[in-house]
Amino acid sequence: MKGLVFREFLSMVEKEYGYETVDSIIELSQIHSKGAYTRVGTYPHHEMFALVEQLSKMVDVPEKRLLYLFGRFAFNSFRKGYPAFFEGKKSSFEIFTDVEGIIHVEVLKLYPEAELPTFETNLVNNNEMTMVYRSSRKMGDFAEGLIAECIQHFNEKANVEKKDLEQNGSVVLFTIRMMHE
Ligand code: HEM
Repeated sequence: MKGLVFREFLSMVEKEYGYETVDSIIELSQIHSKGAYTRVGTYPHHEMFALVEQLSKMVDVPEKRLLYLFGRFAFNSFRKGYPAFFEGKKSSFEIFTDVEGIIHVEVLKLYPEAELPTFETNLVNNNEMTMVYRSSRKMGDFAEGLIAECIQHFNEKANVEKKDLEQNGSVVLFTIRMMHE
């Protein structure tokens, strides 16, 4: 996992819980990098789970919830960091359609060692889209946060249903239904 993702995570922790908490979770998780992440470096993704586990214990928020909130936070930094992907886009469905074939493809060009999930996206009708997430990293909760924040970014209201297609979380089906008032 790229250092920039770790750095985003630690800046979320700092913003929400303060610098001492950042220090403590790095210390307690006994990770090899000791939290010294450079944006372009690549680090074992289990360090992310170790940090999330310690944070969860410390602030008493479930790990799944923390990964979801991190997805929401990360969406905004991705959006600000890579505005080109959002130019001229009018809806979250347009972004979801682009993730697999355009956005993550560009990410791989920038960072050839990036470890990305795959998404199979299907527009069922104008109000409904399905996305099948696949990744050995099992970060469906993070994906859910990214999806939720993207919907919010476009001022849309939608219901997002998340269903594990593999019990271990490596394959997840999202069904996104727009709600119109
Ligand atoms: C709502 C749209 C998006 C979704 C659902 C999505 C989903 C994900 C997920 C779930 C991961 C974690 C890796 C895994 O599960 O295997 C990931 C990683 C990543 N995504 Fe996306 N993504 C979205 C948009 C973007 C955008 C706009 C960018 C901007 C460039 C981006 C850049 C990245 C990067 C840099 C990583 C980390 C790769 C690594 O650390 O090796 N994503 N994405």
